Amino acid sequence: MQLNSFFAEAVRTVVANWMAGKTLHQCVEALSDPVQFSEEQLPAVHEQLQANGVSLQQLKDLAWSEPYLHLQDVFPIAGLDDELPETPVAFLPVPDCRATAAARASAVLCLATIESSVVSYASENDGHLFVNLVVLAGQGQMVEKSKDAMRGHTDGVFFPIRGERDETYPNFAPSPDFVCLSGLRNPNATETTVMPLKEVLTGLTDEEIDELCQPQFTISPQKTFREGLALAMNWQSQRPPRIDNRRVLFRRAEGSWIRFSHSSVAAPILTAQGGEEPDIDAANPANSAYQSFIENCRKNESGVVVRPGDILLVNNRIGLHGRSEVGGEAGGTSRWLLRTYGLETGDLAAEQRYQGSSYKLYP
Ligand SMILES: [Fe+2]
Repeated sequence: MQLNSFFAEAVRTVVANWMAGKTLHQCVEALSDPVQFSEEQLPAVHEQLQANGVSLQQLKDLAWSEPYLHLQDVFPIAGLDDELPETPVAFLPVPDCRATAAARASAVLCLATIESSVVSYASENDGHLFVNLVVLAGQGQMVEKSKDAMRGHTDGVFFPIRGERDETYPNFAPSPDFVCLSGLRNPNATETTVMPLKEVLTGLTDEEIDELCQPQFTISPQKTFREGLALAMNWQSQRPPRIDNRRVLFRRAEGSWIRFSHSSVAAPILTAQGGEEPDIDAANPANSAYQSFIENCRKNESGVVVRPGDILLVNNRIGLHGRSEVGGEAGGTSRWLLRTYGLETGDLAAEQRYQGSSYKLYP
C-alpha cells in the first residue's frame, strides 16, 4: 500500500472509533476545542500507523514534498447513520450532523498528523474554523465567483509566509501552510486544480525567477477577507487596501515557496503621469516574469476530484490551487466541500493570535 492509503486508513479508524457510542452533541462539543481533540486522538493515529511501519515524520515529509495529498474515503459518508441535509447556500453555518462532524474530525486529525494545527483568521467568515465551499445563493460578485472556474492562487495571499513578518502590519499572522478540503458532495466531479510550484518554475529562466524574488509586487486581500480586514484594521476607504513592494517567491532552506494570486497580485505599476490612469509597465522585466509565471501555471495544471469522504491537503507553499467551473444551481445536492486551514503555529507570537481562542489568528 501507498503511504497515502495508510494515512487515510489510520485517520478513518481513529475517527470511527472516536464517534462510536457518542451522540452528535458530544462530537460537536469535542470539536469546539480542536487543539485538545488533536492532543487526545493523535496518539491513536500514531499507533495505527506504527502497526503498518509508518511514522508521523514520514507523512509530514510527504506532505512537504508533494503539492497535495489526496486521501480517499477517510470518512465514508455512506456509513453515517443520518441523512446529509441539503447543500447549504452560504459559507456559514456548517450544519451539525454526523457526516459534517466526521468530515471536521478527519480534517483536524489529518492536519495534526503532519504536525499542523487547524487555524482560522478572524477577518474571514467571522473566524469560523470550517466553512462550506458551495455555490452561493443570491446575486453579486461573490455569488458569480462561487460558480466560476478559479485560477491558481495561494490562500491568505495578503498575509506573509510563515517565518516572516509584514513590514507594514507586523502583527499579521502568516498565511496557512495547508488548505484542507473535506468532500461531502461533488455530483459533477468538479475538479480542484493544483499547480506544483517546482514544475511551474522549471519553465522560467533564472532571470525571471530572480524578478519574482524581488520586493516589487502589489498585493490586495482576496474577496473573502476584505470586509473583515476593513473592520479589524479600521480601514475607512471603499477600495480594498493594497500593500506594495512585496515578494511573491521565496528561496528557503526547504526549497522555494510561493505567495500568489492571479487576481490579487499585480506586477509593478507605472506611476500615472499628467492625470492619466496608471498602467502596467510592459517593458519592466518584473512584468514579463509575472506573465511567464502565469503562462507556466496554466501549462502545469492538473485536476483532482474530491469525492464524498475524501480529504485533500493542498500545500499552500509549494503548490497553487484553483478549481474548474462548478456552474449549476445553489442548494439541493450541489457540490459541497468543507474547508479549513493548517499551520505550524509553534513560532507565533501572542499578538498574532486572538485571546480566548486556541485557533483564531490575527487579523
Ligand atoms: Fe483557495
